[in-house]
This record gives sequence, C-alpha cells and structure tokens, in this order.
Amino acid sequence: MCILEPMFLSLTLLILVVAITVFLTISFYVTIFGGGPFVPTPMYAVHKVLKAAGIKKGQKVYDIGAGDGRFIHFAAKDYGADSTGFEMDPSVYFIAKMRQWFWGWKGKMIRSNFQKYSLKDADVVVCYMMPNTLAKFQKQFDKDLKKGAKVVSYAFHIGTWVPKKIIPKDGKTSKILIYQK
Ligand SMILES: C[S@@+](CC[C@H](N)C(=O)[O-])C[C@H]1O[C@@H](n2cnc3c(N)ncnc32)[C@H](O)[C@@H]1O
Repeated sequence: MCILEPMFLSLTLLILVVAITVFLTISFYVTIFGGGPFVPTPMYAVHKVLKAAGIKKGQKVYDIGAGDGRFIHFAAKDYGADSTGFEMDPSVYFIAKMRQWFWGWKGKMIRSNFQKYSLKDADVVVCYMMPNTLAKFQKQFDKDLKKGAKVVSYAFHIGTWVPKKIIPKDGKTSKILIYQK
C-alpha cells in the first residue's frame, strides 16, 4: 500500500470535519441571532397553506424563510407561481439546493436575509417563523407590500396585524392565518 494513501484519507477526513464544524457553527449563530431554527412545515400543511393562499398562475410568491424550499417548490409546481425563497442559514440553503439538484424541486432560492430585499412585487408571502421574529418584520411588510398582497402565516400571528381569515388547526396542522393588505 502506498504511504500517501492513509495521509490522503486523513486529510480528506480532516477537511470534512472542519467543513461540517464551520457549517454547524454558522447555523448555530443564525439560529440564535437570526430568525430562529429550521423546522419544516409538515407536507400536508404545506398543501393546505398554499390552497388557502389562493395563488394564481404567474403570481409572485415569496417564502421569507424558505428552509428546504418546500413552499416555493409546490407553489411553482402545483399553482404555476413565480416563486422565490430566501434562506439565511447556509447549511439549510444547501439542503434546499440539494432538493433542487437531485429531486428537481422548483423555485428560485436566494441565500440571504430577506430583509435586504424589497417585497414590493409580491402577490403572496408565505411564512413560518416565531411570533417575536414576525413582529419585527411587520414594519417591512407595511412598507413594501402592495395593496391586495396576501401574507399567509403558518401557526403564528404577525405583530398587531389583524388576520382576514383564520383556518383553525386540525389534527395534523396548526392554524393558518391569512392577512391581506
Ligand atoms: C421554521 S423554518 C421554516 C422553513 C420553511 N418555510 C418551512 O415552512 O418548511 C424558518 C426558516 O427561516 C429562516 N430564516 C429566519 N429568518 C430569516 C431571514 N430574515 N431571512 C431569511 N431566512 C430566514 C431560518 O433559517 C429557518 O430555516
């Protein structure tokens, strides 16, 4: 056996461990100081939220904390939406990109804090985030969103906004809150 082989294996392993540690550290900081952890919405609830949003073909749909990109994928696939997801956690963004590369998931993923972007062309904004985080985003929604734009929040209220409709929780999902500007 060549002497270089174990060295090469050790180096590969070391690079892998360092890469995973860096990813996990960034994730930890994003979770603590950013908008909260990645908790995927159950698939059944994803379809219920999208149906409740009443998306029409070609409409601009944003998920402001897209996770693995499930909302934007099904919004594009099932409703023909022009969907975009923002995800600030690089490791979660990487999962979303894997879904797109290997499973053919649709929609555009942007690795960034959505607050750096304007939501002025949004027809529908989807969110599943902690209530304290959503309360902070209310100001941007007020500033950016056009009249008639909908915000559909899974499980949590948005600050002081009053929902137009609340779909109560069932055995499989939390409540769904629909707001319209
Ligand atoms: C509870 S998860 C929901 C993921 C996905 N929307 C779903 O329902 O399956 C919230 C995600 O939002 C991301 N996030 C939080 N604040 C954000 C921000 N300001 N910009 C972009 N992503 C954000 C987090 O990293 C996390 O992955």
